[in-house]
Amino acid sequence: MTDQSLILAIDQGTTNTKALLVDAEGCVHHQASVPNVVTYPRPGWAEQSATDLVAGVRTAIAEVVGQAAGRPIAGIGISNQRESILVWDAATGRPVGPVVIWQCRRSASKCEALKSAGHASTIEDRTGLTLDPLFPAAKIAWLLDNVPGARARAEGGELRVGTVDTWLLWSLTGGSVHATDHSNASRTQLFNTDTLSWDAELCALFDVPMSMLAEVKSSDSRFGTTTEGACALPAGTPILSMIGDSHAALFGHGVREPGTVKGTYGTGTSLMALTPERIRSTHGISSTIAWSQSGRAQYALEGNISVSGQSAAFVAELLGLADAAALSALAETVADSNGVTFVPALVGLGAPYWRSDARGTITGMSLGTKPAHLARAALEAIAFQVADVYTAMEADTGSALGELRADGGASRNPLVMQFQSDILDRPVAAAAAPEVSALGAAALAFSALGIAMPGVPAADKYKPSMSAAQSSEHRQRWASAVTQTLATNNKTT
Ligand code: G3P
Repeated sequence: MTDQSLILAIDQGTTNTKALLVDAEGCVHHQASVPNVVTYPRPGWAEQSATDLVAGVRTAIAEVVGQAAGRPIAGIGISNQRESILVWDAATGRPVGPVVIWQCRRSASKCEALKSAGHASTIEDRTGLTLDPLFPAAKIAWLLDNVPGARARAEGGELRVGTVDTWLLWSLTGGSVHATDHSNASRTQLFNTDTLSWDAELCALFDVPMSMLAEVKSSDSRFGTTTEGACALPAGTPILSMIGDSHAALFGHGVREPGTVKGTYGTGTSLMALTPERIRSTHGISSTIAWSQSGRAQYALEGNISVSGQSAAFVAELLGLADAAALSALAETVADSNGVTFVPALVGLGAPYWRSDARGTITGMSLGTKPAHLARAALEAIAFQVADVYTAMEADTGSALGELRADGGASRNPLVMQFQSDILDRPVAAAAAPEVSALGAAALAFSALGIAMPGVPAADKYKPSMSAAQSSEHRQRWASAVTQTLATNNKTT
């Protein structure tokens, strides 16, 4: 390791795989992006090809390695889409079935059965996660029960299971290492986040043989080294960090203490804040492991909003506009939404409501309503949902939280960010770099080498500028629209 060394950070996301060459100051020297295909074989199902994901990672690595211009690459840091799961043959490395990704609801009936049998609170107490098909545990059982012969082979010790970090590690190390980190393990709904171990009782409830599970290590471990031909890097390059992407973004913002919240604004939004200890949420928020360093777990609260940035694209299409940028330009032409509120419960409502049957609602329309008001309501909805999760987190922690660090698409929209700051009555700092998750994985890899890489600085800062009365009026308008949305039972539709 020299002070010229770079980390090759991989951000394996649902829609794109990115590779970045990052130096110890957090500067990005080169980057590459490879798109990924998601298929939807049935309504509510979503999957990807495990071999395509690895091929995309190899392509992205090859593109940036060629750009390193002789600077040494000290190691690899991996941030990844969470909760997506796959099974493979331990001897051949061949996938057994597809990657069942986080969005997939195929395991809903298994979750319902566990709920009806009264197991939800045990599961939630031990994992910190609401019993929901989002999480891998029930998805693994689905794969074992639906891929011909899989359950018998799993019980015979022939199969391995893993989240995407584990699969990439296996592939880059030539099938020699089967491991994951605490952040990814904590999202499986099989991991006891109190004892920091796989929970035998939960594995039995979900019908998952424990022999399939990966070794769980600290997020900043030396997970293994690349083998000859596994990728464009020389054999022996160490994998120095693995961490779920949302967690990596929190690390990338430089957050190391409780009190600051980060919001990653994408298709949906993930809000996360460190907590001094493991907290069992009573307000609809997940309790999770942010990361672990030198074996010590750092706990966090997280709220996932299913549809946020996507609501802007959705309304843009309804209004016949080209894209979300055109929607934003239209929204700028009016001072407010003129009382119109859009609750984008397009796939139900996630945190803190957890109502998968909820559907989108528009309230407050009148003859005075113009398309621009609806455009504005779509953007405001992004901020309102974040404010709900933020407030629920404050209720869980019992103390006021501070600045919100924002990244992702909507963090570059001044209208959304200013409104966010106004209704939260908190400063909002939008990150200067778009790739905060990859930079977080790089920072964690540098920390494994004993080097403190700085967090991503803010490009824009927003301060609250609205009166308390106005802000409270907006929040009440939203709360009433949510109440109306939840009052409609769509369970049969
Ligand atoms: O929890 C799912 C999340 O990790 C997916 O992230 O970036 O692939 O949409 P992304």
